[in-house]
Amino acid sequence: MTALTAVRGMNDILPSETPRWRDLEATMARLLLARGYQEIRLPMVERTALFHRSIGEVTDIVEKEMYTFVDRGGDSLSLRPEGTAGCVRALIENGWVAQEGAVHRLWYAGPMFRHERPQKGRYRQFHQIGVEAFGMPGPDVDAEQIVLCARLWEALGITGSVTLQVNSLGTPASRAVHRERLVAYFTRHAADLDEDSRRRLETNPLRILDSKNPALAEVIAGAPSLPDSLDAASRTHFEDLCRLLEAAGVRYVHNPRLVRGLDYYTHTVFEWITDRLGAQDAVCSGGRYDGLVSRLGGRETPAVGFALGMERVIALLEQAGHIPTSSAPDCYLVWAGDGLDVAALRLAEDLRRIEGLRVVQHCGGGSFKAQLKRADRSGARFAVILGEQEWATRSVQIKPLREDQPQRTLPVSDLPAWLLAQGLGRSA
Ligand code: HAM
Repeated sequence: MTALTAVRGMNDILPSETPRWRDLEATMARLLLARGYQEIRLPMVERTALFHRSIGEVTDIVEKEMYTFVDRGGDSLSLRPEGTAGCVRALIENGWVAQEGAVHRLWYAGPMFRHERPQKGRYRQFHQIGVEAFGMPGPDVDAEQIVLCARLWEALGITGSVTLQVNSLGTPASRAVHRERLVAYFTRHAADLDEDSRRRLETNPLRILDSKNPALAEVIAGAPSLPDSLDAASRTHFEDLCRLLEAAGVRYVHNPRLVRGLDYYTHTVFEWITDRLGAQDAVCSGGRYDGLVSRLGGRETPAVGFALGMERVIALLEQAGHIPTSSAPDCYLVWAGDGLDVAALRLAEDLRRIEGLRVVQHCGGGSFKAQLKRADRSGARFAVILGEQEWATRSVQIKPLREDQPQRTLPVSDLPAWLLAQGLGRSA
């Protein structure tokens, strides 16, 4: 029989790793709350057409990477490869952009699915925290989101591991001008292109600029650059964004070749990249997508957002030596003796009334010695020992497991105050 293993590129996140994930989630949630972003929870499966119409027919994601299937009702559905499309769908469906001037700040977190070739930092099920803002057309909210990322790196202690790249794709009109120039240029150099790029020349010439084929580097370097095609309004939007970033002390590099792999972007695009994770260098990316809400059937609504790749941020945290918040228990209740099961259960429950105190009650029997071994392995700071002798005097013994302190006996009634005095639990 073949072993039932996890699907390639879809990983377990083990208890040894989850504390770091929770630290990232908690830090991000705090920063988002401080800026008025509200959490939205979205389905993992959507109609396939949603992704075709939003991400774009001729993108790698839609052409090659989606997990698409026909369900028992005959509908074509896909596991979400990203969260923006579903978020916009939900916004329209719930009537949140029906009124002019509607403004929303939203975030979501969860798994996304892309059938890419798995390697370090690139998975088939990976996790994003996504942030989206609707109804605000100016560079102020673009800056708000980029500065939010900068604050996240600071809070996590990884500012030195990432750099910010920004660019502007301009309006659809200025993109059209650029597209014409690109097509003319690449048609002249068609002989230097690879097969993929020749095909893209017909369908999505901007994406040729994104090619990872080193043989194309030279021809790409000579291609007309986007900034030269920007109209005055796009240029001002971008300059204002740069000014705001400078005022906030956020360093950036203007990369005129940054185009992004999804079709919905307009104006600002940005990527936080790292040189510490090998080929998978994008840690967090996004931009403005003013045309998407109307393209999906809503009213004209400006929007901007980004998503960070949680696996990649976690890898940077690990490299930076980040020490995750401990999830070890504070006390491990060791108990044995005739008829003490009720007393032990009650004692554990009484202790858990202390806010924030973590108490593991030993279950499954065994000698005191065996139980103390378990207590030690649990990482608990103290073993609280309840035997027949202790119970007769309504007391417990406390054995410090991490510190060189003597074992002591305490009346059960004094135990809560003693634990609080050790700095355990949060006294309400
Ligand atoms: P994206 O650039 O496709 O954008 O993905 C965002 C981030 O997800 C990337 O920067 C990367 O860190 C992470 N990521 C992508 N693919 C993988 C993978 N296979 N394995 C591990 N991590 C990965 C979006 O998804 C847009 N929805 C972002 C956005 C939101 N734009 C506007 N609003």
